[in-house]
Amino acid sequence: MSTVTLIFLFLTVELFFSPVQGEVHYYDFVVTERNFTRLCETKSMLVVNDAFPGPEIRVHKGDLVYVNVQNKADYSLTLH
Ligand SMILES: *[C@@H]1O[C@H](CO)[C@@H](O)[C@H](O)[C@H]1NC(C)=O
Repeated sequence: MSTVTLIFLFLTVELFFSPVQGEVHYYDFVVTERNFTRLCETKSMLVVNDAFPGPEIRVHKGDLVYVNVQNKADYSLTLH
């Protein structure tokens, strides 16, 4: 099992320069590989918390977001 090497979280610039006034959100993402068979062909895909597409992050401007990512796939990944 490899570890997460690069995690890019793109937050609004305002978040870095203004004091936090909004809510605080915590998300746990577990990334795993799953095999999907379609038309007799099996492909491996990355899923987040056993779902594809992965979970939605819903926040408002000024909120603070923590995303804890556990990479259980066989290779490194980036999150955008
Ligand atoms: C997906 O299928 C491949 C080939 O059969 C297998 O080696 C692999 O372990 C499977 N992965 C998962 C997550 O089931």
